[in-house]
Amino acid sequence: MSNKTTAPGQNSSHTLWGGRFTEATDAFVQRFTASVSFDQRMYRQDIRGSIAHARMLQQAGILTENECTAIVDGLLAIQTDIEAGNFTWSVALEDVHMNIESELTKRIGLTGKKLHTGRSRNDQVATDIRLYVRDEIDVIAAELTRLQSALLDIAEREADTIMPGFTHLQTAQPITFGHHLLAWFEMLDRDYSRLLDCRKRLNKSPLGAAALAGTSYPINRHYTAEQLGFDAPTRNSLDSVSDRDFAIELAACGSLIMTHLSRFSEELILWTSAQFDFIDLPDRFCTGSSIMPQKKNPDVPELVRGKSGRVTGHLIALLMLMKSQPLAYNKDNQEDKEPLFDLIDTLRDCLKAYGDMIPAIKPKKDNMYLAAKKGYATATDLADYLVKKGLAFRDAHEIVGKSVAYGIQQKKDLSELSLSELQQFSDIIADDVFAVLSLEGSVQARDHIGGTAPTQVRAAVATCRELIATR
Ligand code: ARG
Repeated sequence: MSNKTTAPGQNSSHTLWGGRFTEATDAFVQRFTASVSFDQRMYRQDIRGSIAHARMLQQAGILTENECTAIVDGLLAIQTDIEAGNFTWSVALEDVHMNIESELTKRIGLTGKKLHTGRSRNDQVATDIRLYVRDEIDVIAAELTRLQSALLDIAEREADTIMPGFTHLQTAQPITFGHHLLAWFEMLDRDYSRLLDCRKRLNKSPLGAAALAGTSYPINRHYTAEQLGFDAPTRNSLDSVSDRDFAIELAACGSLIMTHLSRFSEELILWTSAQFDFIDLPDRFCTGSSIMPQKKNPDVPELVRGKSGRVTGHLIALLMLMKSQPLAYNKDNQEDKEPLFDLIDTLRDCLKAYGDMIPAIKPKKDNMYLAAKKGYATATDLADYLVKKGLAFRDAHEIVGKSVAYGIQQKKDLSELSLSELQQFSDIIADDVFAVLSLEGSVQARDHIGGTAPTQVRAAVATCRELIATR
């Protein structure tokens, strides 16, 4: 789009609301109060809403068929021009709503002035944002699904790949890389259902609430709701024009999505370091250093981690915006858009970056395996072995603790100790212990729903595939 915006100061907005005014708006105030520079991105939703309103007015006998046709055709022609970059936005006309309405009147004459019958910009903007947020939720949800299915693909491929699992970022127990990726899948799955829940709640039509109290015209709110794909009209006109809960809910969903992506990022950044060296990120997702020739920096995950703060910041901004507003509409509400738009853009970009990057990460399986061998990851398995041979868990814990201390002293893993070395700590340890102490034995033993055993990982992938196929 290469649409132009004209400078303020012309006061052509007086043609829309200037009847009671005797002096022109201050040039700075005009710029200060205008929202067209950012709300013009809702032009499609604004036109969609206006077309539904015009059709309803015709049905109610308020517009003639010819008038309705002129309005609808005029609005569609304006949309075509905006999309072709042939539209001049005027700051003097304040916002997207008045820019489009005034252009309509310029094009079709007097009939254009009838479009606003039984409507206010208050219910108009409330309708537009809901439509906009609904459209964007659909895009974000599709990006989430794309990322989730990429995770399933890798999880299946890496169902047998062993890596260390951490708690406190200290080696805890061996896990499979596939299992780790499925944990990320679950986080995103909750995000997806939260988004849909937010979409469901916002999908009510505020159109017809007019300025705040409703309108004296015989409007049909069910008709406009249905035309716009809303489930029903909202129940209370005051609430309709003042409610921005849906923006806050989306910001909250978005903050959690970004929190999750930020956690994934943190792990990817650690894993690409020379100290972990668990994965390789393809060059196209990284950049170099202008001074250190050896550097390959994981910029994409780092930026995503950084941008999570910005989205959560917008959530706080929206909460603060609303917290002291009396009913019903207040101009404060115009401040909802920039945070909302920015968080939507940020979410889309970050999810796109992840959807492109995740399928391209290459696990360094040997390094993961060697890392899992360090840090006595199978110590719990030895304790469980002793319990299965009749010891109480606390006694087994004590015995294994001593074995680990001995291993540290000898610089050997538990699996590298000889049978007689192990038997120093308990004479019930027998030859069958070595199967238990292997990394493979350890992951295979966790063979129940939600466990890390390769067969469980494959089963979970299958279940999750079904889950996202029905979306
Ligand atoms: N640009 C305004 C907004 O974003 C539209 C509604 C203006 N309503 C009003 N009564 N001034 O909220």
